Amino acid sequence: MKALILSGGMGTRLRPLTHAMPKQLIPLANKPVLFHALEAVRDAGITEAGVIVGDWHKEIRQAVGDGSRFGLRVEYLYQEAPFGLAHCVLIARDFLGDDDFAMYLGDNVFGDGITGPAEHFRRTRPAAQVAVTPVDAPQEYGVVETDPGGRVRALREKPRRPRSNLAVTGAYFFTPLVHDAVRAIEPSRRGEREITDALQWLVDQGHDVRAVEVTGWWKDTGRVEDILDGNRLLLDGIESRVEGSVDAASTALGPVVVAPGARIVRSHLRGPLVIGADCVVEDSYIGPHTAIGAGCVLNEAGVTDSILLDGAAVSDVNGIHASVIGRSARVGATAAGTSRHRLVVGDHTELDVVA
Ligand code: G1P
Repeated sequence: MKALILSGGMGTRLRPLTHAMPKQLIPLANKPVLFHALEAVRDAGITEAGVIVGDWHKEIRQAVGDGSRFGLRVEYLYQEAPFGLAHCVLIARDFLGDDDFAMYLGDNVFGDGITGPAEHFRRTRPAAQVAVTPVDAPQEYGVVETDPGGRVRALREKPRRPRSNLAVTGAYFFTPLVHDAVRAIEPSRRGEREITDALQWLVDQGHDVRAVEVTGWWKDTGRVEDILDGNRLLLDGIESRVEGSVDAASTALGPVVVAPGARIVRSHLRGPLVIGADCVVEDSYIGPHTAIGAGCVLNEAGVTDSILLDGAAVSDVNGIHASVIGRSARVGATAAGTSRHRLVVGDHTELDVVA
């Protein structure tokens, strides 16, 4: 079985971060979303992966390389514009050949990976299989209707009145029959070739399409809240590893990762949290569910439940919460006694300050 990993999306809902980097490289628990995907694919026993890339192809190639550090052989397939998930299958025809494959949306993270659904597919080998999970707002996803045995009767893309709460997640498994399906369907109203339509086509042709529930949590990291959720969920699973230095005047509670070269001075760490390589944290409080990238500098700062990307700096500001701070961005305080805010804010940025 091969893998087709879709990393072509533009991530407009994640601006301004995605003005400067592809959404698939935004770090969760200090590891790019796409790396979590590659590891999930590898852990499912797959060795060959095609990665669909778009405008950010250079950055993604540079980060992933030939895939060998993930134990994978990676090939890149260029998609000119986001014409839909089924279009990705169309352009990957040569790479996929007549092999079965797992299709994985490169901005999705699964707490338990995709090993369970992949094994289920190998064992039962229906025409196609989707990994599903119950959600609170099914109208925002592809939704499946199944019979009690898990056979799919119907699929609908973001239906206004969903008939079940089972959302299609970002892991699909296909036999080569899907190639007929993606050729047979037309673009949808939003102008994309929808994979749900291709799956529905298979159902309508009488093929066996199955839905398998994922164990563990699932996150589609399309919005900032989802990125923070994913970060939280991943940090909940970490174990302490202190390779940098934590001085005697500092305290560390709960699972805490301090990467090599990082220095923690007169500060309080309350995990789960990760602090990247070569950070300097002085006179600060870093609270639960915070991931701080490499080379960050924090001075008299208080940060909880947040993500700082590489090279970010925070000084003299407390109470930073549920925030994402971009690469080499700086957050500081104005002189005491002034009630003014000095802001240099990039395009499509969101900022909430105390009124
Ligand atoms: C896509 C699929 C949808 C699925 C979702 C999972 O939606 O079309 O069926 O539920 O991914 O993340 P999109 O994110 O392209 O709107």
